[in-house]
Amino acid sequence: MIAQHLLDQIQDRSDIVEVIQRVVPLKRAGRGFTAPCPFHSEKTPSFVVSADKQIFHCFGCGVGGNVFSFVMKYEKLTFPEAVRQLAQSAGILLEEDEEFRKREDSRQPVYNAVAAAAEFFRMELGKTPTDAPIQKYIAKRRLTDEALSKFKIGYSPDAWDSLLKKLAKDHGTETLLRAGLLLERDGKTGYYDRFRNRMMFPITDLKGRVIGFGARVLDDSQPKYLNSPETEIYHKGRVLYGFYEGIEAIRRENRALIVEGYMDVIGCHAAGVEIATAASGTSLTTDQIRALKRFTSNITVLFDADKAGEAATLRGLDLLVEENCNVQVASLAEGHDPDSFVKEFGAEKFREQLDAAQPLFDYKYQFLTRRHDPRKVEGKSQIAAEMLATIRRIPNEITKDGYLAELSRRLGIAEDALRVELKKSASTPRAIELSQDDRKMPDAASVPVSVIEKLLIGLLITDSKLWGKSRGRFEDGDFVSEDARLVAGMVLQAQDWTEVQPARMLSVLHDRENLSLLVLQAVHQAEIVEDSSKAFEDCLKQLDEARGKDRLKRLRDAIAACEKANDIDGRNILLRELNETSRKGKPNGTEVQIKS
Ligand code: CTP
Ligand code: MN
Repeated sequence: MIAQHLLDQIQDRSDIVEVIQRVVPLKRAGRGFTAPCPFHSEKTPSFVVSADKQIFHCFGCGVGGNVFSFVMKYEKLTFPEAVRQLAQSAGILLEEDEEFRKREDSRQPVYNAVAAAAEFFRMELGKTPTDAPIQKYIAKRRLTDEALSKFKIGYSPDAWDSLLKKLAKDHGTETLLRAGLLLERDGKTGYYDRFRNRMMFPITDLKGRVIGFGARVLDDSQPKYLNSPETEIYHKGRVLYGFYEGIEAIRRENRALIVEGYMDVIGCHAAGVEIATAASGTSLTTDQIRALKRFTSNITVLFDADKAGEAATLRGLDLLVEENCNVQVASLAEGHDPDSFVKEFGAEKFREQLDAAQPLFDYKYQFLTRRHDPRKVEGKSQIAAEMLATIRRIPNEITKDGYLAELSRRLGIAEDALRVELKKSASTPRAIELSQDDRKMPDAASVPVSVIEKLLIGLLITDSKLWGKSRGRFEDGDFVSEDARLVAGMVLQAQDWTEVQPARMLSVLHDRENLSLLVLQAVHQAEIVEDSSKAFEDCLKQLDEARGKDRLKRLRDAIAACEKANDIDGRNILLRELNETSRKGKPNGTEVQIKS
C-alpha cells in the first residue's frame, strides 16, 4: 500500500500531457490535446488528453483515466509498479521503494538458489542415458527438445541428497531450505532433497526468474505432482504456469487460454497455441486473474473432458465474471485433456475446438438444460438459480440487465421474478451496505446510473463553486444507483474540493474499475453541458423526482413479487409504504439542456 498523500504528490509532479507526450505524439486542440488512440487502431484521432483535469479518454474504445492509469495500460504495469515508475521520474523517493529494495535484496539468495537448482536439474537430465526411465518417459509423452528447452524441463535424480551435495557449499542449507528445495529429517539433524526422481517443471515469474517447481512422477505412483511450498518468492496463488512463455502471444492475440495442468500448457504451446497458461496446484485465484487482465480480459477456459461435467468447475468461473472478464468456455470430448487431445488429433483439430468455444452464459445454460428440464417449473427454477449466481457477479449494470432479459426470454420467466431471486441469491454481503429502507426491494444496484446522476457528479468534481454550493443541499442517499451513491458519498464528504478533482478521484479509486469508469463518464457529461450552474439546479430537481419515481416503481415491483409468493404480510407492509410515498411525491422538474 502506498499512502494517498504520496500518490497525490507523485500525481502533482507528473504532468499527464508530458508523460503521454513521451510516447504518443499529441496535437493541441482547444484546451486539450488529441492523438490517434494508442490502445486501439484508428485513423481519425479520438484520444483526448485534458491538461486542466489531468485525465485522458478515448471516445473510440472507451479507455481513460489519470496519469497512473495511462502508464499502467501503456506499459502493462500493475498500479504499484506504475506509481513507482512515475515517482522515479518525478524524483520522489518512496519509503515503500526503500523497503521494497531491502526485501528484494534479502530475497536475492533465494532467487539464486532456485535458479541454481533449475540449472542443476537441467544438467542432470542431460546426463541421463537414453534408456533411463526419465528419457523413456519423455519419449512416451512426446516432449520435443524444443519444448524441453523452452520450459527448461529437468530431472531430479533418484537419490536423497544429490541437490544438497551439489548446492550446499555455494548456497548454504539455510537458503536451500528457504527456497523450498530441502526437507528436514525426522528426529535427526540434517536435511534431504525434497524432489527426487521426478520430471521437474520450473515455474517462472513475469520477469522470467524461476521461483519454484512442479515435479511429476515418472510412473503412476502418488502423489502425481509435488509442488514447491510457499516461500518468500513463490506464492502459488499469484503465478500462472506458462504465462511468461506465453506473454507475447497473449498480448498479440488479446486473449488467454486457461488450461488445467503443466503438461497441458506444454502440449498447447507445442501445438502453436502459445496463449495457454495454467493455475498450477490451486484453483484460479483473483490475483491470477488480475495478473492476466493487465494483458487481456478475453479469457477462454478449456476444461478436461471429465471436469467439464462438474457444476463446481463452472462455479469457479464466476470469479472471472466478477473481475469483468469476457469468458468463453471450450471443452474436449471423450476423456481427453488438451495434451492428449493434441497428440491424438493434431494441432488443427485442437484449434477447431478452441474456435468452437462458447460464451460462458450460453455454455452454462446449455449445460444446465441437460441436467434440469427447462419446460418444468422445478427445472426452470434450478436453472435460474444457477444462472443468477453468475449473473449477479457481473459488475457492469447494463450487461447484467442484458443477461437478465435474455434469461427471462429463454426460460419464459418474468424479469421481475428473476430480479427478486437475484436479490435473494446474494450469498455474500456486498461491500456497500444498502440503506435500511432498500432492504425489502429488488436490487437497487440493477438501476443503471442515470445521466442525471452522472452529470451531477461530473459537475461537482469539475467545478469547485458548484461543489461549494452542494453542501447541505442533498446527500449521497439521494442517488438511486449504488455506484453513484458511493462516488457521491466521497465527493460530498471531502474536506476540500482539491480532494475530489477527477484525477485524484481516479487515483483513490484505482482498484475499482466500475467506479473509475463512472467518474470518467461523469466528467464527460459535465463537459457537454452549456450552462453548468443551470444544469446543476436542474439536476437537483430531477434527482428529487427520479428518486420518488424509482421508489414507487421498486415498491410496486416488490408488491407484485410478494403477491406472487403469497406473502400477504409483506405485501401489506409495502402497500402502506407505497401509500405514504406517493402522498409525499410532488411532481416537478425541468429538462436539463445538453449540447448536441
Ligand atoms: N496437480 C497437483 N498435484 C497433484 C495433481 C495435480 O498440483 N497431485 C495440479 C498440477 O498443476 C497439474 C494439474 O493439477 O498439472 C492438473 O492435474 P492433472 O490433469 O492430473 O495433470 P496433468 O498436468 O494433465 O498431467 P498428466 O497429463 O501428466 O497427467
Ligand atoms: Mn490433465
